[in-house]
Amino acid sequence: MTLISKTLVGALALTTALAAPLKADPTAEVLHYWTSGGEAQAVKALQEAFAARGGSWVDAPVAGGGGDAQAAVLRARVLAGDPPAAVQIKGPNIQEWAEAGALGDLSAVATAQNWDAVLPAAIQDIVKYEGNYVAVPVNVHRVDWIWANPEVLAKVGATVPTTWDEFNETADKLLAAGIIPLAHGGQPWQDATVFETVVLGIGGVDFYRKALVELDMDALGSDTMVAVFDQMRKMRGYVDPDFPGRDWNLATAMVMRGEAAMQIMGDWAKGEFAAAGKVPGVDYICASTPSENGYLLNSDSFAMFNVSGEDNVEGQALLAELILGTDFQETFNVLKGSIPARTDVPRDSFDDCAIKSMDDMVSAAEGNTLLGSMAHEIAQAGAVRGAFIDVATAHFNSDMSSADAVAQLVDAIKLAQ
Ligand code: GAL
Repeated sequence: MTLISKTLVGALALTTALAAPLKADPTAEVLHYWTSGGEAQAVKALQEAFAARGGSWVDAPVAGGGGDAQAAVLRARVLAGDPPAAVQIKGPNIQEWAEAGALGDLSAVATAQNWDAVLPAAIQDIVKYEGNYVAVPVNVHRVDWIWANPEVLAKVGATVPTTWDEFNETADKLLAAGIIPLAHGGQPWQDATVFETVVLGIGGVDFYRKALVELDMDALGSDTMVAVFDQMRKMRGYVDPDFPGRDWNLATAMVMRGEAAMQIMGDWAKGEFAAAGKVPGVDYICASTPSENGYLLNSDSFAMFNVSGEDNVEGQALLAELILGTDFQETFNVLKGSIPARTDVPRDSFDDCAIKSMDDMVSAAEGNTLLGSMAHEIAQAGAVRGAFIDVATAHFNSDMSSADAVAQLVDAIKLAQ
């Protein structure tokens, strides 16, 4: 049976199952990369909600923040004709798998739960293919955050910087005081995460959009991009010598323990603080990285790959229904550090950082300053994302000049398109 005919069978079975009451033993093998403290707690909440509804969860975690290792496993499984039922997936990758005919159609549950009424346009665009829902969004993660230890900053009389000049001044004071200014994990996706916040901060919203979304060659080769790499070079001087290869959550733990003053990372870092019982505004401070008014959006989804067998199809139907239910949207996102994908979840259980993310996302959408993350596969994926990451990490881990980095970036993006 070819992928296409299996696809048709799978899609029809899924559509039928979504509409009908559960009959079989709903089962779902779920491929994901949520293995850090906060991530594991959040995915456990989904497992428990699934089990509470009679579902059998088959856990398929692939360790490795940012998800590149998981993506390789997924490709191998699909090519072997053995796709998992549900996969944590993001951005343009959803479109690519849908185009390949590998994904089921979630229209029935989307209509039943009226997703169009509760999902922001930016999220609908990510999870719809040719007008149909092919993935269920579970959250909105903001990428452009600073996580700071107020006690450590106070040691040099500083507060969380609001401009990159202030960031550098504060970092220089911290260094002089023998304190690690920036906790960082030396992995390419983490270097790219910092890079894109600097692009937004140094260049602004329009520049980010031109360079990282529209791949405008003038913007990519501009003096502004040189200034971005100049700032990245400074930040290389603010990390500790042991940063290479460090996992992101271990860098978060350094801020938590007061071994470093700040980390730049998406709000999955808040999931780590929450898992450790830390209180925002007291034990740590959350602030957006210095920028005019941008908001870098990342959003995790689960796509239902075409699998056969009534149990699996029923499992997918139940999972899709659960993930966008208001209760689960609240439980999961409080643990994960993100905010709900749906806009009508009560705010009572969410902390100040989450409320700030919710409000900033709304005003960014209204003000047209809402931007997809490049590093986290919303604005870019595949070879183009790879090109950005390769150059950003090569520059960060060498003494490459900013001018050379810009020249390499222009060439790499040209090649990758
Ligand atoms: C992102 C993902 C987040 C978070 C992070 C670290 O790509 O969207 O949910 O888990 O990686 O692993």
